[in-house]
Amino acid sequence: MRHSCDFLVIGSGLAGLLFALKAAAHGTVTLLTKDALGESNSRYAQGGVAAVWDEADSFEDHIRDTMIAGAGLCRREAVEHVVRNGPRRIQELIALGVSFSRSEDEPDTYELGREGGHGRRRILHAKDQTGAEIVRALVEAVNTNPRITVTPYAMAIDLITTGGLARRQGELPPHPCRVLGAYVLDLKAQRVDVYQARIVALCTGGAGKVYTYTTNPDIATGDGMAMAWRAGARMANMEFVQFHPTCLFHSDVKSFLISEALRGEGARLLNTSGERFMSRYDTRLELAPRDIVARAIDAELKRLGADCVYLDISHQPRAYLSGRFPAIYQQCAAVGIDIATQPIPVVPAAHYFCGGVAVDLTGESSLRNLFAIGETSCTGLHGANRLASNSLLEAAVFAHSAAEAAAERLAAERPELVTLSEWDAGDAVEPDELVVVQHTWSEVRRFMWNYVGIVRTTRRLKRARRRVHLVQEEIRNYYWDFRVTGPLIELRNLATVAGLVVDSALRRRESRGLHYTLDFPESDRRWIRDTELERRF
Ligand code: FAD
Ligand code: SIN
Repeated sequence: MRHSCDFLVIGSGLAGLLFALKAAAHGTVTLLTKDALGESNSRYAQGGVAAVWDEADSFEDHIRDTMIAGAGLCRREAVEHVVRNGPRRIQELIALGVSFSRSEDEPDTYELGREGGHGRRRILHAKDQTGAEIVRALVEAVNTNPRITVTPYAMAIDLITTGGLARRQGELPPHPCRVLGAYVLDLKAQRVDVYQARIVALCTGGAGKVYTYTTNPDIATGDGMAMAWRAGARMANMEFVQFHPTCLFHSDVKSFLISEALRGEGARLLNTSGERFMSRYDTRLELAPRDIVARAIDAELKRLGADCVYLDISHQPRAYLSGRFPAIYQQCAAVGIDIATQPIPVVPAAHYFCGGVAVDLTGESSLRNLFAIGETSCTGLHGANRLASNSLLEAAVFAHSAAEAAAERLAAERPELVTLSEWDAGDAVEPDELVVVQHTWSEVRRFMWNYVGIVRTTRRLKRARRRVHLVQEEIRNYYWDFRVTGPLIELRNLATVAGLVVDSALRRRESRGLHYTLDFPESDRRWIRDTELERRF
């Protein structure tokens, strides 16, 4: 089937939902998402949204904290843009019905949380379920907007561009190349549809699932990054994968985060000998930026041959803990951990991609009319390491900037809706052994965890690169022989993202922020630049 719209939005986390709402004021919007509406990383966000809210806080302080965490690689204009526009975007979320937690003593005041790397309290939150509250309000608004057509269980496969069409005809691609739409697998009908659009917004989130252990839900397979790469968009800083220091370590629970906000309220990290070890790594102790805390935990685990460390917040009263952190309190209780009296076993896990599709301050990529917003993009805000709770803020600010720029483009140029040919399945047959996809998926995630994790070496990265190439070749054969399925599309994307992370990590011959390699353990001024990758066709 063929569909047409002014704005095609792919993904329904904070970035996609907010962009769709804003774009709907200017044209027809189709919002595609591969799972239920709102299923996303956004939905699981716990700690909150950082913004200059308190009168005693200042833009300069938030900018400084962001740049310090980013370890010399933040793009100053992007940091200024996000921090200075942050409070306005928060006001807008509140106007859309998001209910942030208020102070018990002063109900007219929002309660501000604290997290690592922040010099002061600046995190607006909805207890420990900030993402669920934001997504609830935005989904409600999207569902009642008549100009937005929502199509859940629709998985984008590939972008269609003028360059791609030209190359297929054996012609030289035009410059600049422009996006025209996307091929999309309707997961219910098991049919590939073509979507034609004047503007495409990639809001597909991150790629935590490229690692064995992650805080991310299953949707985080890097689809947007891989699609943009295949289409020829410029990518940046893919080596900077953030490992959250404290994911619950329990055999019955997959991917449950223990928010950094606990450390903001005084939780202490202890090793298996019961020692509070952070003082050996950083004077900011548990509230040092995440790269430092995750590396310190990794070092303790290796030093002691332990499976986990512990996070202890038992100094806080039970009533406070169950009221301020209800989800964490209940999830831990469900597996027999009483956080009011016992320390929580935790380990680092892959959490956030600082790199992605390189975009300008309007969120536009190197492909014309293709915007990338949220975790799938690289705006320059995070540099080599993201400051806690800056991601939701970035998604909200860039959803706004991108919607404004896209609306202007529509009004000024009204990009042509090109009639695109239907998906050509060739001689593809039904997949015979779906288990092969699952095996390969686990293989990629395992070697990424083992060789491209918190501490890297050139030798391990090269080992990973050899494996990634092999897997990519196998997928290429498998992909074209068999009818496309959701798991196959995701596997192809995971392998693509794995390749981009490894290649970027091999290029950066220094340690900085989240990229730490034993072969080049120091930062090097000559590497104060982005790692940019662009596909050669
Ligand atoms: P997402 O919210 O991940 O949305 C991506 C969407 O794209 C999903 O709807 C997905 O289904 C869809 N999609 C993906 N591929 C396709 C495809 N091929 N076709 C169609 N649809 C597709 N950040 C903070 O700032 N503060 C926090 O407190 C915080 N806590 C976090 C806690 C957890 C457990 C996790 C995992 C992350 C947390 N983060 C936090 C990070 C933050 O949540 C994310 O970076 C942010 O929400 C990303 O938003 P997004 O809209 O870009 O992507
Ligand atoms: C957390 O609550 O610890 C997550 C915050 C973030 O990822 O910014």
